[in-house]
Amino acid sequence: MTHKSTEQTEHRRQATPQLHPVPSQLISLRMVLRTKNLVRYVFQNQHKLIQQLLVQGGPVRACSGHGGTQQQAQLRVEEDDNFPKITEVPPLAAPFPMKLEHAADVGEQFKYSDLSVRLAAPHQLNPKPDVDDLAFGKYFTDHMLKVSYHRRLGGWQKPEITPMENLNLHPAAKVFHYAIELFEGMKAYRGYDGKIRFFRPEMNMARMNVTAYRSGLPTFESEELIKAMARLVMIDSEWVPHTESASLYIRPTLIGIEPTLGVASSDSALLYTILSPVGPYFKPGAKGLKLYAEPKYTRAWPGGVGDRKVGSNYGPTIHVQQEALRHGCHQVLWLYGDDHQLTEVGVMNIFMLYIKENGERELITPPLNGLILPGITRDSIIRLCHQWGEFSVCERKFTMAEVKKLSQEGRLLEMFGAGTAAVISPIERIAYMGEEIYLPTESHENPLFRRLYNTLTDIQYGKLEHPWAYVID
Ligand SMILES: Cc1ncc(COP(=O)(O)O)c(C=O)c1O
Repeated sequence: MTHKSTEQTEHRRQATPQLHPVPSQLISLRMVLRTKNLVRYVFQNQHKLIQQLLVQGGPVRACSGHGGTQQQAQLRVEEDDNFPKITEVPPLAAPFPMKLEHAADVGEQFKYSDLSVRLAAPHQLNPKPDVDDLAFGKYFTDHMLKVSYHRRLGGWQKPEITPMENLNLHPAAKVFHYAIELFEGMKAYRGYDGKIRFFRPEMNMARMNVTAYRSGLPTFESEELIKAMARLVMIDSEWVPHTESASLYIRPTLIGIEPTLGVASSDSALLYTILSPVGPYFKPGAKGLKLYAEPKYTRAWPGGVGDRKVGSNYGPTIHVQQEALRHGCHQVLWLYGDDHQLTEVGVMNIFMLYIKENGERELITPPLNGLILPGITRDSIIRLCHQWGEFSVCERKFTMAEVKKLSQEGRLLEMFGAGTAAVISPIERIAYMGEEIYLPTESHENPLFRRLYNTLTDIQYGKLEHPWAYVID
C-alpha cells in the first residue's frame, strides 16, 4: 500500500510540467496584489489588531467572567431537554407589517455600502466588566453607529461608526419636549461554536419602522441597518460575553432632533445604536416573580401607542414600579378595563397555561388589540407551541376573575412573562385587591416555561440550528 502510493507520488512528480521562469513584471504585480490584500485585511480588522496588541496585561480584555471560556448558563435546567425540537417556522401572520412603503417625501435611503468607520484610539477603549458585575444597561462598548436624517439635505445621510461619544443637541430638539423618539431592544449572542448571532433581527427592524411611522419619524430599509449593526457588533465583538448566561444588548434608537418647538413632525432625526453587555435579567436561583396588580393604573388604551415601542410608554410606569417594590413585589401586572384584563407584566408579554372545562390544556396570551407590545419573544412562543401541536394556543382576553377561578379550581398550571431581556420569567404570586393569588408555575415537572426557555436559548446560542438565528460573522 505504502509502496503503491510512493509510486503514485513519483509518477505525479514526473508528470508535473516544468515551470517556466516567471517574468519580473508578474512577480511585482503579485506582490502589489498581496500588499493590497494585506492592507485591506489590516483596514477591516484594525479593531481586532489593536485589541490583540493591548490584550496582554492591559485593561482591555474579553467580556467574560472566566477569562474568555464558555460557561454553562446558570438559568438553564437540563433534565427536561429531551423534547423533540422542530426547526421549521409555522406560516402564521406576522404581528406587524414586515415591510412598510416609505412616505413619498422621506427622500434618500441610507446604504450599508456607504458606511464609514472611525475607530476609537487606544486610550478611548474601556475595560470590560466581569460577567458577574453586569447590571442591565450599565456598561457600554467602545463604538456606536449613527445615521442622520435631514429632509432639507435630501433624506438619510451616510451611516458612520464612531467611538462612543456624547451627542450634541440643541435644547429645543423635539425629542426633549414631546418625546418624539422610539427604540428597539435586541441582542447579540456568542454561541457554543464561538459565532455571534442575532435573533430574528428583521422583526425588530419592522417593529421599529412601524413605530417610526406612528411617530412621524422617517422610515428606513431594515436590511441596511441590520448589516450596519452587524458591523458595529463585529468591531466591538470582544464585548459579546463569552458565556451563555449573558449577551450583548443592542439598543437602536431614533430621535427627532429638529430644534423647533412646534408640535409637528421632525424634519431632522438621528438614528443611533449603542451596545451594552448584559447578564441574566433576573438573578440566578431567583424565585418566580411576585406581581403587583393595581387596577387604578393602566399602561395603554385603545387607539393609543401601547403597541409601539416609544419612550413615552415607559417613563410613566416608573412610579407604579416603585409602588410595586414598596408592596414587596418584583413587577407590575398591567390591567386594563372594568373587568381587569391582564395585558402585560412589567416590560414583558404574559402567557397562561391552564386546563379547559373539557380537560384539555390551552396556552393563552392577550391579543394584539393595541394594548400590548407585539413582542418578538411572544410571537416566537406562539409559533413554537403551534408547531409542537400538543395543546391549543389562543390569543384572547382574560381577566383577573378568570385567573382567580382557575386558581381556585386547580386548573391554572403556569403563568409567565416573555421578552428579549429576560427570555421567560415564571410568575409565582399576584397581589390583587388585598389578596394573594398563588400560581403553581414552578411546581410541575417539565414545565412549559422551562422548555420554551431552553428552546429559545438553544436557537440564540447556536445549539439548535434554526432560521431565526442570524449569524453575523
Ligand atoms: C412593554 C413591553 N412588552 C413586551 C416586550 C417584549 O418584547 P420582545 O419580546 O420583542 O422583547 C417588551 C420588550 O421589548 C416591552 O417593552
